[in-house]
This record gives sequence, C-alpha cells and structure tokens, in this order.
Amino acid sequence: MSTRIQLLAVESLTPGETAEVVAEGRIFAVYNVDGEFRVIDGICAHAGGPLGKGTLDGNIVTCPWHGWQYDVESGQNCLTESICQTSWPVEIENGHVTIELP
Ligand code: FES
Repeated sequence: MSTRIQLLAVESLTPGETAEVVAEGRIFAVYNVDGEFRVIDGICAHAGGPLGKGTLDGNIVTCPWHGWQYDVESGQNCLTESICQTSWPVEIENGHVTIELP
C-alpha cells in the first residue's frame, strides 16, 4: 500500500531555496526550481552529505560536503551516469509539496 507524504508547505520554500525534510524514516531533499518543486533522496551517494542543504543553481544542486552535483529533476549525478538519486513526482496537495511512496 502506498503512502502519501506532505513534506512542507509551498509558501515555506521560495524559488531557488532548498530544504531537508525527515519523514517516514527517510531524509528527503526538496527544491523550488523557479516555482516548480522537486524531491530527491536527501542523502548524497558519495558519503551521505545533506543534499537538502546544498546550493541550488537552476536545476543543479551541489552537495555541501564535497561538491558532487545532481540534476534535481531526475536525480542523476552530473559526472557519473551510474549514480542516480531516487526522485519522486511531486503533487501540490492542500498547499503542500506531496509525494507518494510505494
Ligand atoms: S557527501 Fe556529497 S559530495 Fe561528498
């Protein structure tokens, strides 16, 4: 059975901002890309850095620990094709950024 999770209120994240949200025992990275919200796994594949606390430039987030970069729409690592963070489609539900976990 799938689980819907409301991660945060839309108005709490302005364009260009990032957030780390802990829910359902996981850490999610949430991004506002020019008004479109994106959610990927918040734990960097390199050494566990907090991608929700990274720097967002357009569609690309830079991990604050050692600088690995990811496309926040796909979760794809920018240098290595074999590394891709899990990403989730986002819906706005009752003014909240919402995802569905399988
Ligand atoms: S932990 Fe993210 S780049 Fe090292």
